[in-house]
Parts: sequence; C-alpha cells; structure tokens
Amino acid sequence: MQLVGRSVCRAAFAQLTTPCRSGNALVASTSRPSVSPLHSSHRSFSLSRAQGQNTAPADRTEYKDDEVIFKPMPAGEQQLAQVQTAEMNSPDVDDSFARLNYHQDSEIGVNEQINHEYSMSYQYHAMSNYFNRDNVGLPGFAAFFRSSSLEERNHAQQLMDFQATRGGRVKLAALAAPPSDYNHEEKGDALYAMELALALEKLNFKMLFQLHEVAEKHNDANFTDFVEEMLAEQAQGVKEVSDYVAQLRRVGKGLGVYQFDAKMAERATTMGA
Ligand SMILES: [Fe+2]
Repeated sequence: MQLVGRSVCRAAFAQLTTPCRSGNALVASTSRPSVSPLHSSHRSFSLSRAQGQNTAPADRTEYKDDEVIFKPMPAGEQQLAQVQTAEMNSPDVDDSFARLNYHQDSEIGVNEQINHEYSMSYQYHAMSNYFNRDNVGLPGFAAFFRSSSLEERNHAQQLMDFQATRGGRVKLAALAAPPSDYNHEEKGDALYAMELALALEKLNFKMLFQLHEVAEKHNDANFTDFVEEMLAEQAQGVKEVSDYVAQLRRVGKGLGVYQFDAKMAERATTMGA
C-alpha cells in the first residue's frame, strides 16, 4: 500500500473495528454516507484530498476527518467482495485472502519444485547413509551428504512458505525411493556419488530456470525475485560440487579418497554439520 498513514488506515479499514498500526483507533470518515460503504452504491476506492491534491503531505496530522473521501472504486470493490465472501479453511483456492496476481501455473510450478527439492533431499540422505556404513567408513562424505540433504529440505520449506505467502496450496507428491548402494566398479563410490550429485544439482538449476520463465510469463515480480535468489544459491551449489568432481577424478579410488574424506570431515566441522 503506497499511501500509509492514519487517513489511509481510516479509509481502507473504516468498516473494521480494529486499530491501525499507529495505534490510532479507526473512526469512520464524516464524509462517507451513513450507509456502510460495504453495502452502499457509492462503491469506488478513491483516496484523495478534498481539494484534489495527489501528493501525500509531509505532516500526516494535517488531515482532518472530512478531508478524505472514501469511495470504493469498482476494481477495489471486486477485490473487497472476494475477501468478504472468503470462508475460513475453505478448500476452494479462489477463497484465499492473500492471493493476488498469483497464476495457477506458478502454484503448480512451485509444488513441482517442492517435490524436486524433497527428492534431492531423500537422495542425499540415502547417500549419507551409504557412506556411514561400517564397511564403507567415509564419515566426511556421510556428513557432506547429510548436510546436503538438510539443505534441500530447507529449500522445500522455503518454497512451501512462499506458496503459503502468496495464497497457493501446498500439495506434496510421492517420492521415488533412492538406491541404497553407490559403489561403481570403475569410478569407485565417492566419485560416482559426487557425479550423481552434480547431475542432480544441474537438473535442479535447470528446473529453477524453468520456474523463472513461468514467473516472467505471468509478470509476477515477487515470484521472479524469489526464484532469482534460489538461482543464485543454486549456481554456487553447482560450482561447489563441480569442484569436488574434478578433485575426485584426480585422487583416484584408494588412499586419495580416504584423504579427501578427511578434508570433507574438516569441512563439516567448520560448517557445524
Ligand atoms: Fe535445492
């Protein structure tokens, strides 16, 4: 809301008996018709000075009750009617109180991305448990994939929070069971698992780009902002795992992996994982 102040609070919410943020009690404007604006024919949201000035005054206190004319305009009336008729806990998505300019394609895309983040989390959890086996014994890799799993779970939570903020509905879908073994005859387990992680991170990067296209298509600046933050973090994630793949290709499968695991354990300790 661009116009913030006692007058706006009074005008926009005069029909409600709740206080403004400023703590001032709401008082109905004396210029409004005696009939409630919610049910009167004078419905048009129009906040303006009685003298026709458009600029907000530096001193809000110079407003007087009869200086603000409040008439819900047709567009505002339509929005207001939607809020008024929305039912608490309604299963109908259109009854969201908060939803505005949030396209169904965006809502579906967010739910798909939630599933992908959860799938990655599930996959990394399986990898962590593989490296934690007594006959594998690579605690550094186990810690790395455990923290990676939590990170992806956190991304899913961020998406769920965004969905809720925009008035969408979170719909969780089934997750595919990941493999439990990651040994590879030629590459060894550490390189194989890290290459798999790189493939997943790049796939996730690609999906976020697609999500950004959906946000742009529907001209949803709030959504594009949100996805761009995730893209920036994802780019860093792809680079980090790429570095690990390159390094693991250098060290070989035996002693090199054992020493690399010690570095991963140090990393986990530093990051508090
Ligand atoms: Fe993620």
